[in-house]
Amino acid sequence: MWTKLIAAEGMAERVRRAGRQIAEDYVGRDLHLVGLLQGAMYFLADLARAIPAPIEVATMRVKSYAGMESSGRVELVADCEAGVAGRDVLIVDDIYDSGRTLSFVGELMRSRGARSVEFACLLVKDAPRVEPVEVKYGLFAIPNVFVVGAGLDLGGLGRNLPDVWALEAGVPAEEGLAGLRRQFPALAERA
Ligand code: IMP
Ligand code: MG
Repeated sequence: MWTKLIAAEGMAERVRRAGRQIAEDYVGRDLHLVGLLQGAMYFLADLARAIPAPIEVATMRVKSYAGMESSGRVELVADCEAGVAGRDVLIVDDIYDSGRTLSFVGELMRSRGARSVEFACLLVKDAPRVEPVEVKYGLFAIPNVFVVGAGLDLGGLGRNLPDVWALEAGVPAEEGLAGLRRQFPALAERA
């Protein structure tokens, strides 16, 4: 029911390359990473440590998904504390899907006077874009499937899986969740 789409080892190498690229692109700038919780927590930690430059790292919590569907509405649950006016902001998220989340946060950063706003996403899903943005650093293109692992969850489970796993098309959320518990018993013990 769940099949491995991207292995952790491949992701680590790709993240290291992206980190070096970002450091080069932002030489002499005031780079401020803003990771979107919860999904971006692992990617943010890995990416930040792969950037060999003096940067600041902050987080914001936004919410848009309920189960396997985008709710169509983005909610700011917890703001980042540091100011962004005049700074070069790189918004970090787990996945670029409909674009609603990134577009919402990008606009917010611009309205606060960020000098520049770019996006870094671990995954770029081949899904219809409701609010397209330009993702400057998109690490892996994936098909339009539902995935967990590397920070992405289904009903709160699966974020801590090191690899990215795709759910078979057409399987409803409850079955996907039951499948996760079956396939990864260690997750079920904690659930
Ligand atoms: P968007 O606003 O529709 O682009 O949704 C982006 C957010 O939805 C991401 O930050 C994820 O948290 C979540 N999301 C989108 N696709 C998936 C998926 O396949 N699995 C788990 N979460 C997802
Ligand atoms: Mg998210």
